[in-house]
Amino acid sequence: MVARAQAAADTDVCVLVDAEIVLLPEIVNALDRFSKVDGDWFLVSLSRNVTDPRYQLADSGSHWVQADGKEVSFTEEIPAEWSSSEGSDRGLIMAWNNPSSALHAGVLPSFLYGRGAQNWWLAHEVLSSEMRLFFDASSLVLGLYPESISAMQHVMASSKNGRLPSVSWEYGVNHHLAAVYGSYCCRSPARRFPMLHRVVKQSEDYMLSKVDTLVSSDFFISKQGNAHGVDSLRKKQNVSLSGYLHGCSSETSAPDLPYSLSMLLDLVADENGSVVLGVAGKSYRDMLMSWACRLRRLRVTNFLVCALDHETYEFSILQGLPVFRDPLSPTNVSFDDCHFGTKCFQQVTKVKSRIVLEILRLGYNVLLSDVDVYWFGNPMPLLYSLGLATFGAQSDEYNETGPINLPRRLNSGFYFARSDNATIIAMEMIVKHAASSGLSEQPSFYDVLCGENGTNRIGEDRCLEPNTNLTVVFLDRDLFPNGAYKGLWEKRDVRATCKELGCFIIHNNWINKRRKKVHRQMVSGLWDYDPTSRQCLQEWSAQNDGAIPFV
Ligand SMILES: *[C@@H]1O[C@H](CO)[C@@H](O)[C@H](O)[C@H]1NC(C)=O
Ligand SMILES: *[C@@H]1O[C@H](CO)[C@@H](O)[C@H](O)[C@H]1NC(C)=O
Ligand SMILES: *[C@@H]1O[C@H](CO)[C@@H](O)[C@H](O)[C@H]1NC(C)=O
Ligand SMILES: *[C@@H]1O[C@H](CO)[C@@H](O)[C@H](O)[C@H]1NC(C)=O
Ligand SMILES: *[C@@H]1O[C@H](CO)[C@@H](O)[C@H](O)[C@H]1NC(C)=O
Ligand SMILES: *[C@@H]1O[C@H](CO)[C@@H](O)[C@H](O)[C@H]1NC(C)=O
Ligand SMILES: *[C@@H]1O[C@H](CO)[C@@H](O)[C@H](O)[C@H]1NC(C)=O
Ligand SMILES: *[C@@H]1O[C@H](CO)[C@@H](O)[C@H](O)[C@H]1NC(C)=O
Repeated sequence: MVARAQAAADTDVCVLVDAEIVLLPEIVNALDRFSKVDGDWFLVSLSRNVTDPRYQLADSGSHWVQADGKEVSFTEEIPAEWSSSEGSDRGLIMAWNNPSSALHAGVLPSFLYGRGAQNWWLAHEVLSSEMRLFFDASSLVLGLYPESISAMQHVMASSKNGRLPSVSWEYGVNHHLAAVYGSYCCRSPARRFPMLHRVVKQSEDYMLSKVDTLVSSDFFISKQGNAHGVDSLRKKQNVSLSGYLHGCSSETSAPDLPYSLSMLLDLVADENGSVVLGVAGKSYRDMLMSWACRLRRLRVTNFLVCALDHETYEFSILQGLPVFRDPLSPTNVSFDDCHFGTKCFQQVTKVKSRIVLEILRLGYNVLLSDVDVYWFGNPMPLLYSLGLATFGAQSDEYNETGPINLPRRLNSGFYFARSDNATIIAMEMIVKHAASSGLSEQPSFYDVLCGENGTNRIGEDRCLEPNTNLTVVFLDRDLFPNGAYKGLWEKRDVRATCKELGCFIIHNNWINKRRKKVHRQMVSGLWDYDPTSRQCLQEWSAQNDGAIPFV
């Protein structure tokens, strides 16, 4: 609609407003005055709640009266009720002049239709693009809306002075989408996700049952304003509730974006303080999403994503991913051909060990999973059961027989590190070793933990690092196969073959070039994301009958 308005070049002023809002004559006066402003401008104004006794339409319909019968004057400043409309799109009036010039410099994200947030997005984007004068005219009463929208409120925090919320739009959007998709737990007893609530009220029974399905499959959506969820996740929620309340409550100011690492950890970590870490740059964006969709589908909610560049960060925010930006990663690298053996690959992989170490120091266990690792099931309980001072890593050995802990056979694209002294010290040694190495970080893992020539090897699947007594377990390849093992990727039905073996994952490595890699995963049916619609496959397809359309 904005684009259509922009195309109407013979228009002086565009006003975008929900049809249910009653525009007051005051808006004509206001726009008349604004049209005298020299330059391009953009105006927002919050409408007022019509159930407020201050505003009653008098019998004749010609004027508004207060409860005491006195005529309402809309010319004086009246504070808007930001608190009752926060996070909602409704009630917001937007107007701008000179439609032939741009409103903002942003790229319109893939909003869910009817889920709110797009008006706020537009307002914040115009504000931050600084291409127009921006006016918040909320203290002028320009419109009234007919019904309660208190049910619409969610995370958007409002500022005390009744002006536009001072938090970034990203926070509300990401938070909302994450809750809808179930990426991570973020819910307080009072929170509601009203869009489905509305859908339920409006439509037939089949939507009701659909909502039930959503609720019973761990989505934090309320039907009657009560929180629903599955017990395991509710417990988990308990762990992160304090962090959530700290971050989301409107009494405290919302956190700055990008999210800090420690805040995200608090939000996503499971009951044992473990997280799954994915790291991705923009050329691996679709692969990242496929990976994230897969984890969502498996109900793995304790994952988080480290974005290597700003594009990936923004993209991830708008997909509801719990994402943080690595401030130290190289920004000038083109990740387009960031495959094994390239300089870029070395830099990216060195980022990973550094971030893992940071998380371990913050007290969380980390399962690092490259985004080209496809998950069949959740290996976390198994990996956690390896115990303290044990480092579980994928073996990159391709020979089907013989030891799996030979030199340089440790794959640093999938490993579980516990936040204990031995592991932290060993990781410090690895990061240091990698920093002074001309290779990627992968050989550093082996050389540090197992000794350059495998001198610390024990048996056929272990090493013992002598300084820390850290045990390295090379994970059973039937459960954690690499991309060369048993030619699994060449099998006609990769999924069935892996299922027979009992695989938790399969690594899409031992292949060069990103395009081939993506192709291999797609043709094997181990791909969960549709980049054109930006939707997860499967998960939403059952509801793809128009109930929740995407823009
Ligand atoms: C509208 O105003 C009335 C009276 O002030 C109040 O009781 C009600 O909660 C308000 N509704 C919303 C959505 O703020
Ligand atoms: C939730 O957290 C509170 C306070 O930390 C604790 O007392 C309570 O036992 C926890 N409940 C569950 C189910 O873990
Ligand atoms: C990125 O910038 C750094 C520092 O300016 C430079 O050393 C490095 O070679 C650059 N990398 C690429 C791939 O251009
Ligand atoms: C958490 O720890 C308990 C007790 O050690 C264990 O039984 C459970 O499997 C662990 N859960 C995960 C997800 O690691
Ligand atoms: C695989 O391992 C077996 C036994 O350990 C050995 O005899 C064989 O030479 C190895 N094959 C390759 C290709 O390294
Ligand atoms: C871990 O290291 C810290 C600091 O070096 C020390 O205070 C603590 O006792 C150690 N914990 C264990 C279990 O060794
Ligand atoms: C590993 O083996 C190579 C070749 O046999 C040897 O030159 C090197 O010194 C050995 N390194 C260690 C740490 O033993
Ligand atoms: C490692 O284990 C050995 C033998 O049990 C012990 O003597 C040594 O103190 C341990 N080292 C550390 C750092 O715990």
